[in-house]
Amino acid sequence: MTLAIDHLGIAVKSLAASKAIYEKLGCSISPEEVVEGEQVRLVMVPMGESRLELLEPTSENSAIAKFLAKRGEGLHHISLRVPDLTAVVERLKRENVRLVSNEIKIGAGGHRYVFIHPSSAGGVLLELVEGGH
Ligand code: CO
Repeated sequence: MTLAIDHLGIAVKSLAASKAIYEKLGCSISPEEVVEGEQVRLVMVPMGESRLELLEPTSENSAIAKFLAKRGEGLHHISLRVPDLTAVVERLKRENVRLVSNEIKIGAGGHRYVFIHPSSAGGVLLELVEGGH
């Protein structure tokens, strides 16, 4: 099985303000999209074979809003791309790896994802996404 870093997720207070450095660096930036289920608005900044995901909360109840209140802006999660998410999640559950939610979620664009809790991943919030985009 080959894993790759799909993206790095960065929590920001303002997409408009935090996009600016990447615009100055000459990056192309995706249009903004809203993920209702996570209460965030985001843009993607392509970086070679990976991407940066800038995440701004749309509600105080959003996990990103809570992260910003506690830790401030900065790296929020690392996302790994796996070929068969269902098989990986079943294996992790057998190995007693702590997941943030026990079922696979469906994000914007229909992509499937799950988060591994930092307590099972060396203090890093690890997102697993399925597929080859
Ligand atoms: Co992400």
